[in-house]
Order: sequence, then C-alpha cells, then structure tokens
Amino acid sequence: MSGREVVGYVYESPSVREFTFVISRDAGDVGVGDYVVVREPGSGGRELLGRVEDVARDVHEGIKGEIARASMVSGRPVPNLDWMVVARVEVVGALEDGRLRDPRMPARPTDPVYKLPEPELEDLFSSGELYVGRLKDSRARIFLRLNELLTLHCAVLGMTGSGKSYTVGVLIEEVVERGVPVVVIDPHGEYTSLREPSPDRERLERWGLEPKGLDDVVVFAPEGSDGVRDYPITIDTTKLGQEDFEVLAPELAKRRAAPNVLGQVLKELRRRRNEEGEKYSLEDVVELLERHAERARAAGDMAEYQAARAAIRDLKPLLRYGIFKTQESPDLERHVRPGRVLVLNLRGVPDRAQQIVVTHFLRRLFDLRSKDRIPPVFVVLEEAHNFAPAGEERTTSKTSLSVIRDFAREGRKFMAGLCVVSQRPGRVDTTVLSQCNTMIILRTANPDDLENIRKSGEGITKEALERIKGLPTGTAFITGSAINIPAFVDIRPRRTKHGGETPDVLEELKRWREEHAQEDPTLGL
Ligand SMILES: Nc1ncnc2c1ncn2[C@@H]1O[C@H](COP(=O)(O)OP(=O)(O)OP(=O)(O)O)[C@@H](O)[C@H]1O
Ligand SMILES: [Mg+2]
Repeated sequence: MSGREVVGYVYESPSVREFTFVISRDAGDVGVGDYVVVREPGSGGRELLGRVEDVARDVHEGIKGEIARASMVSGRPVPNLDWMVVARVEVVGALEDGRLRDPRMPARPTDPVYKLPEPELEDLFSSGELYVGRLKDSRARIFLRLNELLTLHCAVLGMTGSGKSYTVGVLIEEVVERGVPVVVIDPHGEYTSLREPSPDRERLERWGLEPKGLDDVVVFAPEGSDGVRDYPITIDTTKLGQEDFEVLAPELAKRRAAPNVLGQVLKELRRRRNEEGEKYSLEDVVELLERHAERARAAGDMAEYQAARAAIRDLKPLLRYGIFKTQESPDLERHVRPGRVLVLNLRGVPDRAQQIVVTHFLRRLFDLRSKDRIPPVFVVLEEAHNFAPAGEERTTSKTSLSVIRDFAREGRKFMAGLCVVSQRPGRVDTTVLSQCNTMIILRTANPDDLENIRKSGEGITKEALERIKGLPTGTAFITGSAINIPAFVDIRPRRTKHGGETPDVLEELKRWREEHAQEDPTLGL
C-alpha cells in the first residue's frame, strides 16, 4: 500500500464497470491511461482496479445550481467552478490476491480513489520472465510467463506493418535467453538478422538496453532460392505420399478425370526402392514422368500423355530449388538445441513447395517432441493464414492444416509452444486460433479480422477492440494466461536487428537503378 496517493473521491457510479471521480485540487500527476483503485464495498477487502479513460472539466448542473444558490443567499460572488475536474474510469476488474475477478459492487460515491504507483503496477501486470515492453502510458515493465507461452500457445495478430514480426523478434530474444530453442518458419527471410545487433543504439539506451545479436542462429534455406543460408533445406522425396505430390502438382490435381499418372510413377519408384534399396528424388519422378509421357504418346493415349505433361509442368520448375532430394536437412534431432534459433528461410520458394516443407518439418518436430527426443521448443509460424487457412479456402493446404491443428491441440505436457503470426486473423483456422491462449494483438482494422479475434480470445472487450483499430505501430493489446491482466503494451525495442523493415521506395529505386545501369547506362545518371 505504501506509495499510494489519494488522487480524488468517487463522484458517480452508474455501473460496476465504471465510475467517475473528482480529481483533488492538490493531486499530483493523474490523467488518461493511469490505473487507479478504490475499495469494492461489502467485499471483504477487494479493490476495484480501473483505468482512467477520459478527463473533463465538467461540473454537474445540480451542483452548479446549489453553489450558485448558496452564493446568492449568502450574497457572495459565484466562485469559479473550473477546478472541478472529473475523471471517467473503466473498471478492469476486482483485485483479489493479485488476480482479477468480475466486480460485484459499484464504487461508493465519496470513497477515496488511489493512483497505483509504478512498482505496484509492475507487480500486478507482470508475473513472468519475458520482458516484452511497458504498460502503455506508464513506465511499468511488462513480463510474460514463459510457461504459459510454451504450453498454451500464442498468436501475434495485426494488419501489415503493425509490428508483428518485430514483436516476435522480441519474444524470440527473451525465450532463447532462457535457453529454450526456437524454430522459425520464415517465408520472407526476415529472421536471419537475429544474429546482428540492432543499429538503434539510442532508442535502446533510452530503454536501458544494449544492442546484441544472438550467438546461436542457424539458417537453413533451399539451395536454389535467393535466401540467406548456412545449410540447405532438403526433404527425402521417398517419404512423400501421393497427397503431398498432389499439393506439388496442382494443375494435375485439378484435372479430376485425368489418369493417375503420378500414382503409377510413384508405385514404380517405390517398387524399385523396395527391390534395389534405392532412394529417389524429384529428378527421378520427373524423369519417369517424361518417359511415361513418351510411351503414352507413342501408344496414342492422349489422355495419359496430357496428364503426364501436366504433372511435368507442375513439378519441373521445382527442381531448381533443390529441395526434393534423398536426404533430409535440417536434422532436427541434432539442431534443435537449448539456446539455439533454427530458421527455416523459405524466401522465394513457391507456395506449394513451402506447404510441403512446413508440413514435413512440423510433423517431424511433433514426432520428435512427443518421443522426448528434442527439448521443449518454441515454434514460430509466420503467415499462418497460408498454412492453417480457415474454411475450405485452399485445398492445397489441408496437409499443413492437419499437422498444425495437432500441434495446437497438444497441451500442457507436450511443451512445444506454437506462435501463430498472421495479418489476416479472419482467415486463420478457428480451431488453431482458439488454441492460442495468449493473444498479442496489434493494429487491426478489418471487421472480419476483428470478429475472429473477438471470438478466439478472452478478455477482449468492445472498448478494447475499438482501441485496437487505432493503435500505433509497436503497441499491442496483450491478453491471456501469459499476462495477469489484459493490457495495452508498448513493445520494447529489439536488441537484435529487425529484418522486415518497411521498404523505402527511394532506397529501392536507387538500388534498382544501380543494378540495371549496366544494361542501360542512362539509368545510372
Ligand atoms: N515496437 C517497435 N518499435 C519500433 N519500431 C517498430 C516496432 N514494431 C514495428 N516497428 C517498425 O514498424 C515496421 C513494421 O513492423 P513489422 O515488420 O514487424 O510489421 P508486420 O506486422 O510484421 O508486417 P507484415 O504483416 O507486413 O509482415 C518496421 O519497419 C519496424 O521496424
Ligand atoms: Mg511481418
């Protein structure tokens, strides 16, 4: 209780969810965004915790009249009533042993209202280990609970440019510092910069932090992609089933009546493998399809020929990425290690190949974790709406959806925390989203997205949703079991470098001109 200051007295309590109080003339600094407490009448010591939503110099007409009348009766001049400043408070809940409950009784008019000092605020909002930012409009730091993040999953949602990947970067820094390995599914190649220190030293200093790159970041990317990599991403093609090939060959899959050339080719390759012990790659599949096509053409079987050509058209362009080989890389059992960030950089890889890579490695992670062959792990899934889409929007992602659902459904004992990231929360499978207990919500304007957020998260009031629409970049509404009390949080600056800077048009133009100057020397001018 020490350090608490009376800032005013309750004026009106129209409901258990709100009250107003008159700010005392000698009260220190109090204004919008501050947290205050007042006794909850008849509750045996509970307190109502509220947030100042608005402040007005509005004097109640009744009071004004009374004072004016009194002045006239006494013959003294009517006093200046401007001093009466009234704060409107939204009650967040009733505090009982540091936890928030539903309020049962409205604040009693004339009871004193206390402003919560920062240390008390910090205690209230933070019971975890992961330092993610400060309570908005305050200096109180916010910590999230690692345990809840890892056992009950989280979602980072918000429109493009709202600060999701940046926030995920902060989470990764914190999680990995506690020794928990992280696996990032990174469709845009934004997370390789985790090993570099942030160039924003000044801002970090203001937060009492220093730039620091992570020591142990290992990046995997397909050999044929333009992404940064230490090691290649490859999959043992022998392990892919026909449904995986159907994802890889959408044109063929669309021709419903087409002969099952893929099935035949795979059967042939599998037979060979069983007899001769030879593994096969995508090259072998394409080669056999080509032979198949030739044979069909020679035999005049045009349906068969066209089906084979369609499969070749789908599959051949994938060869250049060098993903579908006879070996598997990364070997997750070896690389998922305490304190390491493993990045699967899928930048520039066609969607359908990404689907298979994600499905394959998530399945593998799931399997290894359930057999306890890898430690508890934090898995970041960027662009989750592509891998776990809502409804039947994309048949191609059914395989990834089912493994992500399995992952999300696994609970407490499993200890593989999924962090679902999406700029289209309205398009993420609701089963997956509703399993994400902790929600970190950044600016979101689209009504469908807001609706899905409201359905999936607890403690998201109408007022909170309204504010979410207008949040500045880097401010999040955090709710769920990793935080004690839902709160708006200014995300702290990253110690590592952010890889997803909002592109600068003039910089890009300069780069483009330099790159094309050789073909057309006038551009370099
Ligand atoms: N907490 C923050 N502090 C400072 N800058 C931030 C913060 N969060 C985001 N930014 C800046 O805002 C821009 C967009 O952030 P970010 O890349 O995280 O967006 P995003 O939500 O992931 O967008 P997209 O959906 O397009 O991937 C970046 O340039 C980043 O540096
Ligand atoms: Mg992003």
